[in-house]
Amino acid sequence: MIDIVEEELSRPTVFRDESKLSSDYIPPQLPHREKEQRQLAQIFKALIEKEVSQIALITGSIGTGKTVVAKKFGEEFTKVAQRRNIKIDYVHTNCRQWKTTFSVMHSILKTFIPTIQTRGYSVEELLDTLLDYFESQNRFLILALDELDYFVSRNGPDLVYTLCRSAETSRLTKQRLSLIGIVRDLAFRQGLDLATLSTLKENIVYLQKYNASQLQDILKFRAEEAFHLGVLHGDVLPLIADIASEWGDARYALELLWRAGKLADGFSSTLVLPEYVRQAKAETHPEIREEILRELDFQEKLLLLTIVRYLKNTKRAYAFTGEIIGSYRVVCEEYNETPRSHTQVWEYLKELEKNGIITTALTGEGKRGNSSQISLPDVPAAVLEQKLTQLLLEGKNG
Ligand SMILES: Nc1ncnc2c1ncn2[C@@H]1O[C@H](COP(=O)(O)OP(=O)(O)OP(=O)(O)O)[C@@H](O)[C@H]1O
Ligand SMILES: [Mg+2]
Repeated sequence: MIDIVEEELSRPTVFRDESKLSSDYIPPQLPHREKEQRQLAQIFKALIEKEVSQIALITGSIGTGKTVVAKKFGEEFTKVAQRRNIKIDYVHTNCRQWKTTFSVMHSILKTFIPTIQTRGYSVEELLDTLLDYFESQNRFLILALDELDYFVSRNGPDLVYTLCRSAETSRLTKQRLSLIGIVRDLAFRQGLDLATLSTLKENIVYLQKYNASQLQDILKFRAEEAFHLGVLHGDVLPLIADIASEWGDARYALELLWRAGKLADGFSSTLVLPEYVRQAKAETHPEIREEILRELDFQEKLLLLTIVRYLKNTKRAYAFTGEIIGSYRVVCEEYNETPRSHTQVWEYLKELEKNGIITTALTGEGKRGNSSQISLPDVPAAVLEQKLTQLLLEGKNG
């Protein structure tokens, strides 16, 4: 066994540091996002100069750099403020991970006052406590609410109302709270009241999709940090940029690059070849986001696996709910799980739909309860099946 471990450790790799390709990493520069970073700086300038709080929205489709642009801005803006003796904290929270407005507020408060007991607090009281803390420390807070549109579609607008109102009308001497909302789609504003809408409409930073040449620049910088010198075949970056430009998605481009490198290592090749990019492409799809699949409950994963297999095996585009429930029992048996009730399965379906993984539509046909049609947006069922099977296995063992 020791020999095997030793052998694996000394096995050559094309990577210098593969973590530089992960989506948590904030690279030193963000090519083709200078203008947008400047826009944010212009919006928040007033916070440093006049201590006036601000609200901004960052919007753009998947993988256009919303998250990384906000984080980078937070990092640099707080540094600049510090040089001017203004204390600003930047907190980036992904709302998707929280199920309620209370849990969002609670998590933010805990980062500043870890010992706080919040039982029995209302959301407003949590916010007041947070603001009082910032007042007492003479600090300012920029709160970035990532995937806010998802949170609002699931939980309604309470979080936005509470925060916007307090950012606007603070009872404290200074406005302590600034906000950055990050959304894929501005349509989340549809259900909001007029006052909030007018607050939100002023400062919007749009991130356009990247084209092939922009993606190639991004890849070049990230590849220099992640790979050893000279291991990338000359066609690799242009090919990846071409493939990913169809979606304008930098995340997909970086994932292809990482996978192509992994394949090179797997084949003990010292060069990353275009063929590995093509293979990587066959194994992935830009709309299958692993971190979202990972967060699903075991049961939700089972139900999704059922849908995926059903559509693949029947070669159909749509399945009726009734058919899925039948197959779901079989899949549960395979995984030694007790099938959940009808109502519960409906809840899971809604959850999968809200996550954008499946779509459902009422058809008006079929028997009662069978009349909803389920389909997968344009992701290949086989790729999704493989990913899910792997995650379910990890879930069982872990
Ligand atoms: N201009 C850039 N330079 C370097 N890396 C970038 C750039 N834009 C995006 N990236 C990288 O691409 C990946 C996707 O970016 P990011 O996560 O910010 O996208 P997003 O718009 O938040 O996507 P989503 O809507 O899925 O949340 C990340 O790894 C990020 O670091
Ligand atoms: Mg993001």
